[in-house]
Amino acid sequence: MYSPSNQLLTPLLLLSLLFQICVSLDTITPDEPLKDGDILVSHRETFALGFFSPANSSRRYVGIWYNKVPLKTVVWVANRDDPLDDTAGIISIDGHGNLVITETNRSIPIWSTNASVVSANHSMARLLDTGNLVLVHPETLSFIWQSFDFPTDTLLPFMKLGLDRRTGLNRFLTSWKSKDDPGTGNCTYAIDPTGYPQLFLYEGGAPLWRGGSWTGQRWSGVPEMTRNYIFNGSYVDNQDEITIEYGVTVPNVFTRVMVEEPGVVKRSAWHETGWVGFWSAPKEKCDNYQECGPNSYCDPNNVEKFECTCLPGFEPKSARDWFLRDGSGGCVRNQGVFTCNSGEGFVKLARVKVPDTSIARADMSLSLKECEQDCLKNCTCTAYTNANETKGGIGCLTWHGNLVDARVYSNGGQYLYLRVDAATLAQYAKKNGLLQNKGKLAILVISVALMLFIVASIVYWFIMRKIKGK
Ligand SMILES: *[C@@H]1O[C@H](CO)[C@@H](O)[C@H](O)[C@H]1NC(C)=O
Ligand SMILES: *[C@@H]1O[C@H](CO)[C@@H](O)[C@H](O)[C@H]1NC(C)=O
Ligand SMILES: *[C@@H]1O[C@H](CO)[C@@H](O)[C@H](O)[C@H]1NC(C)=O
Ligand SMILES: *[C@@H]1O[C@H](CO)[C@@H](O)[C@H](O)[C@H]1NC(C)=O
Ligand SMILES: *[C@@H]1O[C@H](CO)[C@@H](O)[C@H](O)[C@H]1NC(C)=O
Ligand SMILES: *[C@@H]1O[C@H](CO)[C@@H](O)[C@H](O)[C@H]1NC(C)=O
Ligand SMILES: *[C@@H]1O[C@H](CO)[C@@H](O)[C@H](O)[C@H]1NC(C)=O
Ligand SMILES: *[C@@H]1O[C@H](CO)[C@@H](O)[C@H](O)[C@H]1NC(C)=O
Repeated sequence: MYSPSNQLLTPLLLLSLLFQICVSLDTITPDEPLKDGDILVSHRETFALGFFSPANSSRRYVGIWYNKVPLKTVVWVANRDDPLDDTAGIISIDGHGNLVITETNRSIPIWSTNASVVSANHSMARLLDTGNLVLVHPETLSFIWQSFDFPTDTLLPFMKLGLDRRTGLNRFLTSWKSKDDPGTGNCTYAIDPTGYPQLFLYEGGAPLWRGGSWTGQRWSGVPEMTRNYIFNGSYVDNQDEITIEYGVTVPNVFTRVMVEEPGVVKRSAWHETGWVGFWSAPKEKCDNYQECGPNSYCDPNNVEKFECTCLPGFEPKSARDWFLRDGSGGCVRNQGVFTCNSGEGFVKLARVKVPDTSIARADMSLSLKECEQDCLKNCTCTAYTNANETKGGIGCLTWHGNLVDARVYSNGGQYLYLRVDAATLAQYAKKNGLLQNKGKLAILVISVALMLFIVASIVYWFIMRKIKGK
């Protein structure tokens, strides 16, 4: 049996069913199908559903759009890959209780919700004010099917992106082919559960941009997503699901996240006359997945105008490629050094987009100090950091293998503690040592001053005593 992922909506639905039973503006029932030209409007008139033709196309699709936004903005398409060529389409409840799109006088549907329904009678579809089209079980009133589980290119507030571990359903966004064609495009935006789960933008199945893992407050690849952002996210990773759901911190504002050809993900909000862009990715060269090869990092502000730099303790795999500014081969450990029980240690790097965590392990019970010990003990461990940035850092994330797709930011980012050999460690200790020596010098100066003051006081006291004695 299908279990509704948004349990909050069920009581709301029950209530609205009680009060709305005779008004059928927002529902499709076995007796009331919807034909081309008719529209369904949600209770508070936020969203509308009906047949439409995108941009310069004359083909007909069933979609959901904002009812109150003057610029027709489609957020979901049912038959994206199976359009109708004429206006003879009809959307109805079939004999199995499924919602289907058929052409008039044709019995085989061109699209179906394909949900298994026990009882066909009185099953109905309803458009909710969240923009979710739900198929309601006649007896239990639970959702047999919901459009939020089968997103097209747009993520709306209250909609979940990611994996339902119980049903195996993975919800992700897929771009339209073009403005004229809502058919399944090449770009997807999804959560990959491998290792420590991460957000990815793919093109043709290959990673294009890595949003990274959730740090407790934001995605590691989106440093600008702070608390005061108009969009707030709530991430869940437990035995039931790995999902993100966005909300909006300002009431009565339409917001959306969408993926577009060619390979871009955007967040925007409607303001008066148009969609205002808040954020998009990828933005610059260093955002491209693996712009620099393994064990290096990408720095857009590198003074040498070549973005790729080997991580401390590593050298270019091919010096020639590196010299010719081809960083794709990446870096390898400095020759002749050992990082296993040979006096190795960790170098702390700042403002980092931490490497791909598909090869990382998380242990939420460890502190940062314990994390260091854990990583040091295990010679396959190449780096570590906090798993969760909340409250100054919780949990332990350790990498086991090559570190890929790291970059630095001019602002934000995380610390990364990188395993290096003894020689590299000494080099870095020396660099940091300069700072420490400055600190020591200050303490020395203060101590000397204090001692001089005490000596002077004693001398003064003696002199005064002698004067008084006379
Ligand atoms: C539709 O076609 C017109 C004329 O060819 C063109 O100017 C316009 O950009 C097209 N719109 C879209 C969204 O492709
Ligand atoms: C459907 O069939 C009826 C009766 O045969 C016919 O009058 C009507 O024109 C047909 N509609 C379409 C769209 O073919
Ligand atoms: C429904 O199932 C049929 C047959 O398995 C399949 O061809 C079709 O794509 C499915 N439709 C949807 C919307 O998943
Ligand atoms: C369900 O529909 C069938 C066929 O329309 C009808 O024979 C049956 O009585 C209906 N059952 C209920 C419980 O309404
Ligand atoms: C998707 O990829 C295929 C194969 O690489 C390409 O032929 C097609 O033009 C791409 N489609 C879009 C919309 O970019
Ligand atoms: C991060 O820590 C906070 C505070 O303990 C917690 O609420 C949140 O669920 C954690 N997030 C993850 C991804 O572990
Ligand atoms: C976002 O913030 C609003 C207002 O503070 C809150 O009501 C909502 O639950 C939050 N949504 C998420 C998904 O965190
Ligand atoms: C080191 O880490 C690897 C990768 O997680 C793991 O398979 C291995 O068992 C660990 N070794 C020890 C000694 O803990």
